Amino acid sequence: MSETNILELRDIVKFYPGVVALNKVSIGFRPGEIHAIVGENGAGKSTLIKCITGCIEPSDGEIVFQGKTCKSLTPIEAIERGIGAVYQEFNLVPFLSAAENIFYGREKRKKLFLDHETMNREAKAIIEELGISIDPKTRVKDLTVAYQQMVEIAKTVSREVKFLILDEPSAPLTPPEIESMFAVLRRLKQKGVTILYISHRMEEIFQIADRVTVLRDGLYISTLNTAETDRNELIRLMVGRELSGTYPKRTTDKGEVVLKVKDLCSDYIKDVSFELEKGEILGLGGLVGAGRTETVRAIFGADPLTGGEIFLNGKSVRVKSPKEAIKHGIGLIPEDRKRHGVLQGLSVKVNVSFACLPVLSKRQWIESRKENGIVKEQITNLQIKTPSESQLVKNLSGGNQQKIVLAKWLATKCDVLIFDEPTRGIDVGAKQEIYKLMRSLAEQGKSIIMISSEMPELLGMSDRIVVMHEGRIMGELDPWDATQETVLAMASNL
Ligand SMILES: Nc1ncnc2c1ncn2[C@@H]1O[C@H](COP(=O)(O)OP(=O)(O)OP(=O)(O)O)[C@@H](O)[C@H]1O
Ligand SMILES: [Mg+2]
Repeated sequence: MSETNILELRDIVKFYPGVVALNKVSIGFRPGEIHAIVGENGAGKSTLIKCITGCIEPSDGEIVFQGKTCKSLTPIEAIERGIGAVYQEFNLVPFLSAAENIFYGREKRKKLFLDHETMNREAKAIIEELGISIDPKTRVKDLTVAYQQMVEIAKTVSREVKFLILDEPSAPLTPPEIESMFAVLRRLKQKGVTILYISHRMEEIFQIADRVTVLRDGLYISTLNTAETDRNELIRLMVGRELSGTYPKRTTDKGEVVLKVKDLCSDYIKDVSFELEKGEILGLGGLVGAGRTETVRAIFGADPLTGGEIFLNGKSVRVKSPKEAIKHGIGLIPEDRKRHGVLQGLSVKVNVSFACLPVLSKRQWIESRKENGIVKEQITNLQIKTPSESQLVKNLSGGNQQKIVLAKWLATKCDVLIFDEPTRGIDVGAKQEIYKLMRSLAEQGKSIIMISSEMPELLGMSDRIVVMHEGRIMGELDPWDATQETVLAMASNL
């Protein structure tokens, strides 16, 4: 490896009980480059960056940062040396404002008191540089996932970083937001900042990265110049086989209307009406903040309705809580897995079987044979990478946690399934499995609403697309003749 690398990893090893997360991985990072790391869920990407930021200690190997060799760094040392990271799971304090989060741990003070005025002003400047408009005084818990992500980036960028690590920063963002984030990254690169970028979205790697390293099962596979490789080669190196890249299409005929919402209103949406047919996958398109999540939350009884009506199989129903929604056969798979999706401290088995409890339990006890069967089936179907069913969910990789959320709901008997960003953080191979699963559920007569910010997925998977903007429905598109541009134009109300 050359002398000019700002950071070098030499034969890094990380063991966990039953897992070799990293197996003698060596990578060199050049100053001012954007270096992507790709690999399937559980390949070791997040573990690798946690070794760099000092969050975990490597079991073996060396880290050389700016010429200094060490076995490991402490988090403080990493920060002092200019290593900053935006993690896959947010680290924000929900009850503090955006500005307070950005300056968390280095609050500005006027004598003994917090200097909110200065913090808000400086936070505003940083946020504006990122090309987004958030009031720095807004509490983080009131921001959408996309905006929380931006605050997370702002927080890291506001320190003097030399080596910036982003673990799937684009997952909760829509195309225009990703563009503005890329603009920020390019500016940082010009200033000489080295960027380590992790993403499961192949097109992004080619847009933003100079070089890309592939990891597979904790092993270093290869580092390539992005200009000299292509999507297929990368996928082959990641997965170890070719993938078709096609979306499974509907083979059944139009079905009767299962769910109809009429003039739904809540605090966030206005006069939302649409119909969902049996066996159909209905795509909900729109930009972040368009009200898609809010619409499905209203249907699911998670947000109170202020007007409108919901019909199930032609009958008007009142859904006052998620519990009632599930009773009516409506399931919602949320986008924010940390907040609503999984019980981090419990096992894979408990999490998967949790949502099927009504199916599994007769009277008081759970039918344990049935439970084991269902859990095993879901682990296989979704290729969940875990050493055992008793592994705690918090120890799984990010993408595998997302699969648990899906598994939970796929195991239930709901007839209407609502997926909010179903493949966020999921690797290319597993994505195809999830698409196949969703399609086969639809073919079995279930009806699916899918919110997706990933355009190829929205266009590829949906049988119909409904586009929202500012809490209202803008129109309906046929994915056969819609393009990324027509969806975006409608979503931006152009
Ligand atoms: N704290 C832990 N305890 C036990 N095993 C762990 C722990 N953290 C990670 N692992 C395991 O190490 C392996 C690598 O995980 P890692 O999070 O680095 O994957 P990743 O490449 O970031 O995946 P993803 O794309 O899903 O985010 C996985 O098998 C994971 O289950
Ligand atoms: Mg990860």
